Amino acid sequence: MKLDAILSPAELPALARRDLRPTVCVVFDILRATSTFVTALHHGAAAIIPVSEISEAVVLRQKHPDCLLAGERDGVKISAAQSGGVDFDLGNSPREFTPATVRGKTIVSTTTNGTRALRACTGAQAVLAGSFLNLAATATYLQRLTPAEILLVCAGTGEGVALEDVLAAGALAEQLSGKCSDAIQIARQMYAGAQANLTAALGSSQNGARLCAIPELREDVAYCARRDSVSLIAITDASGRLHAQA
Ligand code: MLT
Repeated sequence: MKLDAILSPAELPALARRDLRPTVCVVFDILRATSTFVTALHHGAAAIIPVSEISEAVVLRQKHPDCLLAGERDGVKISAAQSGGVDFDLGNSPREFTPATVRGKTIVSTTTNGTRALRACTGAQAVLAGSFLNLAATATYLQRLTPAEILLVCAGTGEGVALEDVLAAGALAEQLSGKCSDAIQIARQMYAGAQANLTAALGSSQNGARLCAIPELREDVAYCARRDSVSLIAITDASGRLHAQA
């Protein structure tokens, strides 16, 4: 099994030229998109449809009026002014995706980096949304499947690297054995230095500091560091929708 990682979203466009058919991709957007999707599925959401643009989300709401619209720009829930008049139901805080709100619902979500990274993995043997919340479940799935190649995709922030995504890639790589790229070794070493206090490490990241500066979002950082609190995996189907798998 080959283990490789994309540490920066600047590498995402190159995926379109790569044959991903023998590859299982695990996408990390720890603060917060993939942590939020895992939470929503854990709380009974039927599916998540990740889309890149606000306009795509609005078109899907017209086709499926029962779906919930979710997402953020600059970390904050998308406003009617940004979407051309449609109110989004949810932002991108995992703590908003309660069982009462999401059970049985299909959620269309657009976020700055997370949904873009998930979409960039189209064509892979399988695409998973990874997080610290379901790290052990994701590792167990991969250990059983043993695909020819695993690619850990760090969604990052804007065009840059995000520390928390690299830490999660390192934590997952730690649980897997195979032929490792240098990117995997970097991620593993970063995680080894941070694992003793994951919440503090996430809080010290650029994204963590940004969220901590917004009083109503501050608690998201500690929430997203709750390792192994969810026992399902989040995996896309052929149409790109994320579903829970026990
Ligand atoms: C993203 O997709 O870029 C993030 O999850 C941003 C956020 O939640 O603030």
